[in-house]
Amino acid sequence: MKPIQVGLLGIGTVGSGTFEVLQRNQEEIQRRAGRGIEVAMVADLDVARAKSIVGTKVQVVDDARKVIANPEIDIVVELIGGYGIAKQLVLEAIEAGKHVVTANKALLAVHGTEIFAAAHKKGVMVAFEAAVAGGIPIIKALREGLTANRIQWLAGIINGTTNFILSEMRDKGLTFGDVLKQAQALGYAEADPTFDIEGVDAAHKATIMSAIAFGIPVQFDKAYVEGITKLESQDIKYAEQLGYRIKLLGISKRTAAGIELRVHPCLVPAKRLIANVEGAMNAVMVQADAVGTTLYYGKGAGSEPTASAVIADLVDITRLHTADPLNRVPHLAFQPDAMSNLPILPMAQVVTSYYLRLRVADQAGVLAKVTGILANADISIDAVLQREAGEGESHTDLIILTHDCVEAKMNQALAEMQQLSTVLAPITRIRKEELN
Ligand code: NDP
Ligand code: HSE
Repeated sequence: MKPIQVGLLGIGTVGSGTFEVLQRNQEEIQRRAGRGIEVAMVADLDVARAKSIVGTKVQVVDDARKVIANPEIDIVVELIGGYGIAKQLVLEAIEAGKHVVTANKALLAVHGTEIFAAAHKKGVMVAFEAAVAGGIPIIKALREGLTANRIQWLAGIINGTTNFILSEMRDKGLTFGDVLKQAQALGYAEADPTFDIEGVDAAHKATIMSAIAFGIPVQFDKAYVEGITKLESQDIKYAEQLGYRIKLLGISKRTAAGIELRVHPCLVPAKRLIANVEGAMNAVMVQADAVGTTLYYGKGAGSEPTASAVIADLVDITRLHTADPLNRVPHLAFQPDAMSNLPILPMAQVVTSYYLRLRVADQAGVLAKVTGILANADISIDAVLQREAGEGESHTDLIILTHDCVEAKMNQALAEMQQLSTVLAPITRIRKEELN
């Protein structure tokens, strides 16, 4: 049988890895797919660079629409990124009846509803394993492997750049800026690295996972997003002393009131496996009723790890494209007419525990005032750590770990504590997850 014909849009980090791995492992991949998978056409703005990667046997063009217009192409692989031209090209490819593979989490988290509806109408597949956690097959696990389960929550280190920065800052005492430059040089960071460090990339991925886990539409606009730019190295040290590590987590939880969807730095007990995921590695924990807790770990970024996921999608489509569209795995795991309208909860309604650091005057009675405010708000304290004031210092740091409480109550208590004349600087608040 003629190999399935693939058109690549964008041959940068992920596109070149995809081409390379498809070439290297073509025999093995064909034995699995039941048919060859051939890159027949590539579009990239830099035609000369693209030709240097794919050689002379593959047609290279600078206009992606020529790939979409080619009737020979069965699958269009979008590896350009962003919400701009990529969105138009994906919708045009669907309209032209092509199956689509994309690694573009930004696009799907924001415009997924429109894209999946268009694909459903046309009876084509949109596959996106590479969009979340690079090479880890977490989409497949959530959508198919865990299909028997009622998923309760998931929590993941799903941005390699920020995990790399946090690891290097903790282990080598390097500065934020220096480690970010390294992450960019290694190809982990997004074209706009603020997406990484401000938590946006992780929120894109958490949004996609929450949709698949709970059968809700993708709703990036309702996610709570906080990155790592305000983290201070002293908090990383205090957390260590208390038996915790700080990680940027993407979390989505089912509660009686709705779905929590949030990304923020988080204290995680150092003894949890996920707390020991270092460098650019990713890991996702999923808690589900039948299977219990499962953990998925691997490379979340980089050329070939991400290519591994892109090619898995190509194989899936090759196997399934002749199947009746109604018998294929739904894009977001649940049948489109069986989606839930559970609300995404505003952050004020989220329940979690907290790490607080207060820079306070080194005076008698300060601790009592602070704990009094927490007690009045019905917030129970789990642990207190007070740094001894250094010689000649008139201030000290008070670290408090709390038990779970609703965020609105904590906001109120923080506002009251901040008013105390003995609290000398803005209070640092980092959320804490026990993940048990
Ligand atoms: P790159 O920037 O390395 O590659 C994008 C390529 O697309 C470049 O070669 C670029 O050309 C080309 N391009 C830009 N505009 C067009 C256009 N209009 N027509 C054709 N080609 C175009 O990005 P990555 O490979 O890193 O990322 C691709 C996608 O994969 C993104 O959505 C990203 O978020 C996602 N992803 C990336 C991962 C990674 O580790 N890098 C991991 C998981 C997902 P030029 O350089 O000349 O502008
Ligand atoms: N910038 C992303 C990261 C790439 O650092 O995880 C993988 O999606």
